[in-house]
Amino acid sequence: MNKDLFARYDIPAPRYTSYPTVPYWKEDQFTPEDWGKYVRAAFSDDRDISLYIHLPFCESLCTYCGCNKHITKNHKLEHPYIEALLKEWRLYLDAMPGRPVLRELHLGGGTPTFFRPEALRFLLENILRDVTVPETRDFGFEAHPWSASEDHLKTLYELGFRRISIGVQDFDEELMALVNRKQTVESVVRCTEQARAIGYESVNFDLIFGLPKQNISHIRKNAEMVAQLRPDRIAFYSYAHVPWLKRSQCAYSEADLPVGAAKRALYEGGRSWFLSESYEEIGMDHFALPHDPLSKALREGALHRNFMGYTPYKTRLMIGLGASAIGDTWDAFAQNEKNVAQYQQRVQEGHFPVFKGHRLTAEDRRIRQHILRLMTQFETHWTPEEAQTDAMSAALARLEPLLADGLVAIRPFHLQVSPEGRAFLRNICLAFDAHYWRKQPDGQIFSKTV
Ligand SMILES: C[S@@+](CC[C@H](N)C(=O)[O-])C[C@H]1O[C@@H](n2cnc3c(N)ncnc32)[C@H](O)[C@@H]1O
Repeated sequence: MNKDLFARYDIPAPRYTSYPTVPYWKEDQFTPEDWGKYVRAAFSDDRDISLYIHLPFCESLCTYCGCNKHITKNHKLEHPYIEALLKEWRLYLDAMPGRPVLRELHLGGGTPTFFRPEALRFLLENILRDVTVPETRDFGFEAHPWSASEDHLKTLYELGFRRISIGVQDFDEELMALVNRKQTVESVVRCTEQARAIGYESVNFDLIFGLPKQNISHIRKNAEMVAQLRPDRIAFYSYAHVPWLKRSQCAYSEADLPVGAAKRALYEGGRSWFLSESYEEIGMDHFALPHDPLSKALREGALHRNFMGYTPYKTRLMIGLGASAIGDTWDAFAQNEKNVAQYQQRVQEGHFPVFKGHRLTAEDRRIRQHILRLMTQFETHWTPEEAQTDAMSAALARLEPLLADGLVAIRPFHLQVSPEGRAFLRNICLAFDAHYWRKQPDGQIFSKTV
């Protein structure tokens, strides 16, 4: 590992769950009526949809967490929130002229398993009533091992879920206590075994590298647990340190955070152990066993990435229900109000609760395609006509140092990320990011790339 490269390329940059990235979206981009028109147009083109439902509540605060959540022990909040989700869903049904085919469904959070199983059943039965559920689909949910009961797992299986994503983060209980996360090894083992016994076809573990005081022996222990429990997928996230956005990350000392080459060594250690256990590296920070649909999609060139992560299915329309949820019609993005009370109020008034968004230009769509290909296939290509555009010549000029460092190989109209370049995928995408280079953000926004 070339330490010098980490010194030079470990800079703040987006994680590219979208292009343009969220900080470049604007408030009041469009009215709720405009958003409805985008939804209608996308649906008229393709009736397959993806649905993300954001369930924001958590009973306690994990201090490392970078997600949008609402900390409470008050379970009376479940009912009004579900009422709002169903009302928002009704607005989408009114905008879609026909019966949607639900290709992908993901419950994210917060902690979806904060909700009682019967509350989730009520929510989902009301949603599934108005869609066609195809045989080939990806229905998954995020489970906190501490709160996901066998009843949750059985209920969601009965509703058609076949994939569970377990938030492990790290198997070391002392390390988890340092970030205020209540969890035991036993709870992860139980959740995994119950999911398998019930019939779930794909189990994912979320693991993080770069947590405070985490070292290579923690990663080794995590790899041993992976070898023992054999999850079908692993999301091996780089810890995103953004204390200016998430105050709870100030609870521990920055001196305890592995950074730069030391942090990357944790990833490299995990990666080599996962590969030796027959996992394949799917894209940025993701691994899967060869039989998993994600590995198959990678081999067939069909892998896609959206706000829910890597997925084998691509739909033109992605609907996001709930506070802070994001929708994507391919021509436009919109994000809902983040505050739970404000989200509920906007929905009760009968409007799409969007507050921020972006309409994609033709240039945005071209760049989006490059970033998507880099993230899912580690390569991209362009036409001779596109090579003439200012955006492409600017990107190629910005890539020159990365080319000199062997991170990419470029031949006419084609770019390939080299094996060394995979560690710097976000830097490579940044070279294409015309919005970023037109106006770099004032102050700190993004986490560092390594
Ligand atoms: C929306 S969170 C839901 C996790 C769920 N509430 C639980 O506790 O199991 C989804 C995943 O994001 C990842 N994550 C959260 N904060 C992160 C951070 N600061 N850096 C990197 N990954 C993070 C974690 O791996 C987590 O499992």
